[in-house]
Amino acid sequence: MARPTTFIAALVVALAVAACGGGTSEPAPTGPLGPGDIERGQAVYKSTCQSCHGGDATGISGLGKALKGSEFVASLTEVELAEFVKAGRPTSDPANTTGLDMPAKGGNPSLNDQQLRDVAAYLRSLN
Ligand code: HEC
Repeated sequence: MARPTTFIAALVVALAVAACGGGTSEPAPTGPLGPGDIERGQAVYKSTCQSCHGGDATGISGLGKALKGSEFVASLTEVELAEFVKAGRPTSDPANTTGLDMPAKGGNPSLNDQQLRDVAAYLRSLN
């Protein structure tokens, strides 16, 4: 006859397996990237970029340049723009135009590739 402790251990394992099997509603953290979403990108912009580039993306003197009306932004595809934001443009880069750092991912390392695509889509929608 099984001892009670054996039975309890088996029950705990069964419950743990059941708990892990549920909850499929969360989106997978990784996977193929979708096209950028302008609305989600606007939220990323507000949380990470507007402190330097301004709420209306026209730039803030001494912090970040205008992104609205930027020929550079207009010249890139969404994917290229996402790659640019991921890398940033330090003052050591010969392409730097202001002598101020554009930090990688706007200084927010928690942004994932999809969020970078989203914010790129938002910027392109302004131009
Ligand atoms: C700490 C301030 C700061 C933050 C935060 C920041 N940037 Fe920048 N960004 C800059 C500066 C400064 C430049 C100009 C670099 C140069 O001199 O070329 C710049 C340049 C850019 C450019 C190139 C514009 C052009 O016409 O050359 C893009 C695009 C850009 N930033 C996007 C973003 C996005 C998207 C975010 C948020 C994810 C962000 N930035 C967050 C400071 C910032």
